[in-house]
Amino acid sequence: MSGKSKPTKVTTHVLQKMKNNGEKISMLTAYDWSMARILSDAGLDIILVGDSASNVIAGHQTTLPITLDQMIYHASSVVRAVRLTEAEGKRRPLVVADLPFGTYQGNTRKALKSAIRMMKESGAHAVKLEGGAEVKGSISRVLKAGVPVMGHLGLIPQSIYKFGTYTVRAKKEEEAERLINDALMLEKIGCFGIVLEKIPAELGKKVAEQLSIPVIGIGAGPHVDGQVLVTHDLLGITKDFHPRFLRRYLNLYDDIKGAVSNYIEDVKSTDFPNEKEQY
Ligand code: KIV
Repeated sequence: MSGKSKPTKVTTHVLQKMKNNGEKISMLTAYDWSMARILSDAGLDIILVGDSASNVIAGHQTTLPITLDQMIYHASSVVRAVRLTEAEGKRRPLVVADLPFGTYQGNTRKALKSAIRMMKESGAHAVKLEGGAEVKGSISRVLKAGVPVMGHLGLIPQSIYKFGTYTVRAKKEEEAERLINDALMLEKIGCFGIVLEKIPAELGKKVAEQLSIPVIGIGAGPHVDGQVLVTHDLLGITKDFHPRFLRRYLNLYDDIKGAVSNYIEDVKSTDFPNEKEQY
């Protein structure tokens, strides 16, 4: 025994230590108990209950329609899974839940109310809010109530109708400078980490070097402190989404489709259920 046992829970402090020690942070999305149980048991550092549930689970074209009630439902399902991992004596990930569009922008009181509802009703450990200077008041108010906040800069999907496209952000110097200032501001007011989405790798590097809090990238290059992907993309459940930053580890769309085709065939041919599969 070295005497240095691994912590049984990933907290914001553990993440900070990981950054300080140069240990990369792994983060993925989950929206339901079954998937969260697998990610949690696999030893992931952070589960993000992303508002990408709006696309991946509900089939909307954007993240805008998902509601706070729906996000709380998803987050509470994920929290029940990580609690099981913890109860079994294994290291459980930090659960970060997105506050959805319209629940924090432009109204600090509403932001606080939304964050408190998320924390109380889902049991999530932290919330994530998109944006920089324009949501500083909301993020500050949530932080002052003792709720850990993760920021999100670069491509921020809740503002897709302002941007117009999902292309790489902050390629021009002016936008890159604004992003760095926003990142520094988020650290200063007390965010425990930030997500950087779809920006040039060099800019990701700069931000990670300038910030002392963990910087997690999705399409932000290899020099940030950790990586996040949408689990359904990584597993190949989503089929028609091929951004350059995505690495697919499985092709579950085809695998599941094949399995279901086999099942249909077996039912139609009366091969299923066989003698051993009945009472
Ligand atoms: O909602 C989400 O899945 C996210 C990730 C893309 C970072 O915010």
